[in-house]
Amino acid sequence: MTQVIRVDPDHPQPADIETAASIIRDGGLVAFPTETVYGLGADATSQSAVLKIFEAKRRPADNPVIVHVSGREMVDFIASDITDKAERLVQRFWPGPLTLVLTRKPEIAPGVSAGLATVAVRMPESEVALALIRRSGRPIAAPSANVSGRPSPTTAAHVLADLDGRIDLILDGGTTDIGIESTVLDLTVDPPSILRPGWITTETLTSVIGAVELAASEEELRHSPGTRHGHYRPRARLVLIERGSTQRLDALCEEELKKGAVGFIGHTLTKIDHPSFNAIILEESAAAYAHSIYSAIRELDERGAKVIVVEGISKSGEGAAVMDRIRRAASRILS
Ligand code: TXA
Ligand code: MG
Repeated sequence: MTQVIRVDPDHPQPADIETAASIIRDGGLVAFPTETVYGLGADATSQSAVLKIFEAKRRPADNPVIVHVSGREMVDFIASDITDKAERLVQRFWPGPLTLVLTRKPEIAPGVSAGLATVAVRMPESEVALALIRRSGRPIAAPSANVSGRPSPTTAAHVLADLDGRIDLILDGGTTDIGIESTVLDLTVDPPSILRPGWITTETLTSVIGAVELAASEEELRHSPGTRHGHYRPRARLVLIERGSTQRLDALCEEELKKGAVGFIGHTLTKIDHPSFNAIILEESAAAYAHSIYSAIRELDERGAKVIVVEGISKSGEGAAVMDRIRRAASRILS
C-alpha cells in the first residue's frame, strides 16, 4: 500500500516532512511535488535505494536520473569541475527548472548516472521538495514519478494511478505549477548543449552564458539516453496537428470518429457534437499548455479515447519545450 499525505505546498507540516525524510533515510521511495512535475525520490547516495526507483518505474537501466539538492553547497558533494558558466547559471536560475549536467563524483550512487561519467543536478523551487531534501540530509535522486514511457504526473492522483503499491509514500501538494519537466543543459561540453528543452529557453540561457547548442545528432543523443526511449505516450494514438484551422481539425476528428472514440486538446473551439467526442479547450499560450497537457492526455485516455488529436501552438519561446513533448508523445504529426 502506498500512503498519501496531503501537505500545504507552501507550508508543509514539519511532522509530515519528517515522515517522508525518514523513509528516504531508510532507503525507501517517496513521490513529491516540484514546480515542474512530481518526482519519485530516493537517497542519491544509496545504490540499493536508487535501484528501487528503476524497478518501481520499470525504467530502462541505461537512463540516468536527476539529483535534487537544496542549495549550491550540496553540489560540491556530487560533482566536480564546477565551471564559471555553471556558477552563473546556478546564481541566476536556482531554485528553478534548470538541470545541469556536470562531472560526477564517486560519492553519488553509480545507478544515478547509469554508467556515464556525468551527473545531472537541479535545485527545485517547491517548498515541499526543498524541505524534504534538507530534512533527510541527503541529495535526492528523482526522475518524474510516472511508469516509464507514460506522461509525467502533475498531480498526486497521476502518481497513484501509475505507482500505487510500488512506492512507500506520496506527498500530495496539489497540482504542479509549470507542468513540464526542467531544461537539461550539458556543461561538460563546449559550447554547452541542451539535452532536453524546458521552461528555461535557449534564448534565455544564451543571454546568460553565450552560445548553447541544441543536441540533435545521434552522438549527442547518446549522452542523454532518456531521449532515445518512447516518452509521454498515452494508450490512445496521439495525432498532432501543428497548425490547424477549424475546418481542418473538424475534418480530422470526424474522420477518426468513424473508427472510435476521439479526444481533442486544443485552443480552437470545435463544432463537433458527438457522444464519443470529448474536447479539452486550453488557452493558446505556452504556460496554459504546459500546465495542462499531461493531465489532459491522461484524462482523455481514461475516458476511453482511441485517438487523441492535439492542436499545436507556436514554437517560439517556451512553446518550443511544450511542442517538443507533444511531438514525442505523437504517433503521427501533421504540419
Ligand atoms: O523537472 C524535472 O526535471 C523532473 C523533476 C522531478 O525534477 N524530473 C525529470 O526527471 O523529468 P526524468 O528522469 O524524467 O528526466 C531526466 C532527464 C532524462 O532525459 C535523462 O536521460 C536526463 O535527464 N539525464 C539525467 N542524468 C543525465 C546525465 N548524467 N547526462 C545526460 N542526461 C541525463
Ligand atoms: Mg521522465
